[in-house]
Amino acid sequence: MPCIVTVGGFFGDEGKGKIVAYLAKKDNLSIAARGGVGPNAGHTFVHQGKTYKVRMLPSAVLNKPTRLLVGAGVLVNPQILLNEIELFDSINRTFIDSQCGIIEKSHLEMDSSEDHLKSKIGTTGSGTGPANADRSYRTLKLAKHLPILDNYIRNVSDLVNSDLDSNQNVLIEGTQGTFLSLYHGSYPYVTSKDVTASAICSDVGIGPKRVNEVIVVFKAYVTRVGEGPLQQEINSKEAEKRGWLEYGSVTGRKRRVSPFDLTLAKKAVRLNSATQIALTKLDVAFPNCAGIKEFSKLSDNSKKFIQDIESETGLEVTLIGTGAEIDDIIDRRR
Ligand code: IMP
Ligand code: MG
Repeated sequence: MPCIVTVGGFFGDEGKGKIVAYLAKKDNLSIAARGGVGPNAGHTFVHQGKTYKVRMLPSAVLNKPTRLLVGAGVLVNPQILLNEIELFDSINRTFIDSQCGIIEKSHLEMDSSEDHLKSKIGTTGSGTGPANADRSYRTLKLAKHLPILDNYIRNVSDLVNSDLDSNQNVLIEGTQGTFLSLYHGSYPYVTSKDVTASAICSDVGIGPKRVNEVIVVFKAYVTRVGEGPLQQEINSKEAEKRGWLEYGSVTGRKRRVSPFDLTLAKKAVRLNSATQIALTKLDVAFPNCAGIKEFSKLSDNSKKFIQDIESETGLEVTLIGTGAEIDDIIDRRR
């Protein structure tokens, strides 16, 4: 399928990074383009025992033939971007749009000192909210205004649309999660933009008719960092007992936890017009599934869990994560 969009179905941290890292190689992607807010997201994947994290580049970085793009709607922290380009040796295949907004020191300071943002909302402190406020006010600097970014500047919308014109495989990577959307999430405990599939497409400059598949990514349980409602939240002692306790990849904060939420999942499917579901960390919820790569070998209780999700949402769970490594996955796509 030439154009896939991946999007988070809950509150971020669903394991999108691993899914994108897997698809990059498996589908021989020509382009992975990142949409979403900016470096407030940390996407993690594990390859041969080593853990990698990206906050600016798409999670396809390990697949050398894939060009790595950052769409115009995304905010760039130049230092983080340049560090990642160096770390992943991707100077010749990373391109950012000339109209990406730039996060400056003042945005970072405001995001981590202002009481409303830091304490009431519990932001990641990465400067994205204040930068998007300046963008709305039309005073924000853009990537094209910074000489240090010159070599990487392109028209990302043109690059993506041309590859789609020639039938190459393109993946548009969403960040955060559906219920952190400024429009559709639990306002005011949300991020500073819409982050549903439509917004992610707009971020990189493609229209809705370009998309072939929307993969909504759910984790086998729900986590949330920062403030805001979380139905059926369990305490951290119980979360630890179940093996569901996690820490934020950007902030190191303890994540709040609840069991899988079918009501939210159904809403997320609609808001994103999802066509498939990727389910991650099945092995964390059902340890007897660790490392399994064929659906038929899963335990009966985990199969039932998956079948319930399928019957409630009306979609197939096509990708199932069964371990930390990129290829610990069951791929049931046709
Ligand atoms: P901000 O996006 O840093 O302004 O933070 C607003 C809210 O979104 C806070 O609750 C953050 O914890 C949450 N948030 C933002 N980005 C992510 C993400 O990538 N994963 C999980 N939570 C996020
Ligand atoms: Mg994350």
